[in-house]
Formats: sequence, structure tokens, C-alpha cells
Amino acid sequence: MTRKITVDDFSSEEYKHNPFPIWRQMRDEQPLFYDSNEHRWILTRYTDVMAVLRDHERYSTRTYIERFRPIFGRTLAELDGARHIRERTIVAPAFVGKSLDGYEQFIRRSIERIGEKIFLQNNVDLVKSMTNILPSTVITALLGIPEKDDDFVFDIGNTILAAIGSTPEMIERGASAHRKFAEYLAPIISSRRDAPTTDLISRIVHAQADGQSLTDDEICSFISFLLVAGGPTTDTGIANFWWNLLSDPDQLEACRNDPTRISRAFSESLRRDGPIINEDRMTNCEIELYGITIPKDSIVVICLGSANTDDSVFAEPESFNPDRTDLFMGVERKGGIHENGVSGHMAFGMGSHFCMGYQLARREAEMATSQFLLQAPGVRLTSEVHPEARFFDRFVGKLPVEIGKK
Ligand code: HEM
Repeated sequence: MTRKITVDDFSSEEYKHNPFPIWRQMRDEQPLFYDSNEHRWILTRYTDVMAVLRDHERYSTRTYIERFRPIFGRTLAELDGARHIRERTIVAPAFVGKSLDGYEQFIRRSIERIGEKIFLQNNVDLVKSMTNILPSTVITALLGIPEKDDDFVFDIGNTILAAIGSTPEMIERGASAHRKFAEYLAPIISSRRDAPTTDLISRIVHAQADGQSLTDDEICSFISFLLVAGGPTTDTGIANFWWNLLSDPDQLEACRNDPTRISRAFSESLRRDGPIINEDRMTNCEIELYGITIPKDSIVVICLGSANTDDSVFAEPESFNPDRTDLFMGVERKGGIHENGVSGHMAFGMGSHFCMGYQLARREAEMATSQFLLQAPGVRLTSEVHPEARFFDRFVGKLPVEIGKK
């Protein structure tokens, strides 16, 4: 018999390199696990994770208040219920549907700008020279920030990111970076208010729901939040995806020969190797689960990584198989699906806080991948690398490759 999972497992080398067996054992034996070090409850089964994400009455995103507010102020991430819906309704249309088509030129231009540097070399680390840079370049381009200011915005984004959940000194540095950014954004916001263009700042400034729009402070907080919500997640989403393809030359070739496969391969990569493996919520009331009472105001962690590899939902869940028939392969759905033996992955979350940038991230990943496969026909990994898990995320830190000339 294997030993029981303990809190120390989450900081173990085994978890870092291969969290799947630990998640599997938790689902089988301790589907509601109490982490006594951090005083939080962890749920690992697909159905439990889905139930929490869909239940914003009993499970609140108040957990984001402490993490984000001291750095860049209040954002929709921390809101529940009607206030959340109101704010989301104002900004969400700028990220989906037709709005997205208008952004393709910015995405293409960002991919080309970065590609110009990469394809001059033969040996590169794709993480450092491509995936780390692309999502931030796309966000600044979409916002309408001039290219010459990219480095300034990247520095701001990195300082804000480093501040999240960090020491008081780092949090103050993050807050000061946000204030500097807000000063920088003020004249841009004001000019877009008077003379809107097609950029994202114009859309956010003029977006309304029930006659209400965001104040300048709210716009600045939202833009800083976008840098952390859309930058590192997409970076890791693409890096983990490319790691999957580069580690499996047959899949790489299949995508190269039939670019329409890229989309399903990306879905499968998000399922098995999604960037965010845990999220948390706070209970609004006492909750009974598995015969245990979780007190009001407790932290409940929902393990997306485990839900996405739950073998009661996905066959051979730990294998990367873009041809699987049990995963919904289309564009993700906010409510998730779980019917006729086909289920959605939860890498973008689920329910009312479902990722707002899911279509943008997908468009970016697919366009960058098809361009990359075209430009680098002989690409191969030059050393073995693997994603590493921390508590909230899981990412491959480098992708050393030989490009292979056209
Ligand atoms: C592969 C890339 C991405 C992944 C894996 C990802 C993942 C997630 C997840 C799991 C959530 C839900 C958080 C929760 O329920 O607590 C979320 C929310 C969010 N994401 Fe993404 N994201 C990605 C890309 C993006 C991009 C490109 C943007 C925009 C530029 C973005 C903007 C947001 C926003 C604004 C929210 C908050 C939505 C709300 O609270 O209503 N994300 N994302």
C-alpha cells in the first residue's frame, strides 16, 4: 500500500517534476485534502472542481483582493455576482468575436518582429527569445502603445508580476510601477476619449453596459491586470505546447503537414499541461463535503491540473493525444461541457470568471505555431527539458532548439 499524501508532497521534487501521481492519489483517496501548512482545502476531482467554479454564490473570488488590490487596485477578478457581471459586460466584448479579427494584424506583426531576430540564429532558447516576449508584445500592440515604449511596459509588467504574493517591499515596488504606468497611460486614455481609434484602449474607454463605463482609475487597474493575466499565462501556454510538439516529432510533423491539427493539439496541451494548475476561492458559508464541514471564510483550492487529468473523465489522461475523442476540441466554452463522453478542459477556468482572453490566447498560439513550423522546418530540441510545477503554475522554463534552415 502506498503512503498517504501529506502537505510536504506539494514542495517535493516529485511534485515539481511529475505532479500526476500525487493528484491521482489525492483524487482516489483524499478528494478533499486539508493543507494544514497553508490552512486551505484542496479539491482534485473534475466534478468537484467544476461544481466550485460554477457556484459563485458559495465560493467567492475575494481571495484576489489581498493578492492584487495593494498593487494595482480593484479589478473584476475579485468581484462576485451582479457587480462582476456588470464590469465584465463592459470589457469582455473587446476580447471576443469580431473584435478579435481586427487584432490579427497586430498579432501577425508581433510574431514577425520577434521571428526576424530568431530566424537569423541557429541555436536559440524559444522561451527566452519567443514565448516570453510574444504575449506582452501583442498586448501592448493591441492596447495601442507605441512600439518604442515596449521595454518600459515589459519592465512594469515584470515588476507587478514579481510583487504578487510577495514581500511588503516587493508589493510597494509593484504599486509604484503601477502608479508610474497610470501616469503614462493618462494622456493616452484622454486622447482616446476625445478621438477613439481601433485600439483596445479606445474600446475599453468607450465600452458601456447599462449606460455605465469604467473610470480612468478602473481602466488603469484593468490594464495592469491584463499584463499579468494575459502575459505569463499565454507565454507558458505556448511554451508548454511547443514542448509537447518538440518532444514528439511525429506530432510535430503531423501539425506541419496539416496545420488544421494545430488547434486540437493546442487544446490537448492545455488539458494535460495547462499553465495554471491551481486556483483558489473563499467560502461564503459553511460547506459540507465528503462528510466534512468546511467553515465560512476558508480558502478552497481547486486543482485544474488534476481535474484535467481525471481518469474518470479522460482515458489515459497523462498521455498527450491530440486524436483523443473524449476532449472537446473546439473553441472553449465558458460553462464547460460534460456530455456524451466528451468533456471540456478547465485550463481557462469555468463559470463566471472564465478567462476573458481565451480566444486571444488561442489565436496567438495558433498563429505563432503555424508561422514557426513554416519558418523552422528542421527544428529540434537540443537537450531534454520538462515542465516544472510550483503550487499555482506549471511551466517549461526553457526550450533550447536548433532551428534548422529553410
Ligand atoms: C493560455 C493562456 C491563458 C490561460 C491558461 C488563462 C487562464 C485563466 C484562468 C484559469 C482564469 C480564471 C481565473 C479564476 O477563475 O480565478 C483566467 C481569467 C482571466 N483571464 Fe486568462 N488565461 C490566458 C490568457 C489570457 C489572455 C491573453 C488575457 C487577456 C489579454 C486573459 C485575461 C483574463 C482575464 C481578464 C481574466 C479574469 C476574468 C474574470 O475574472 O471575469 N487571459 N484566465
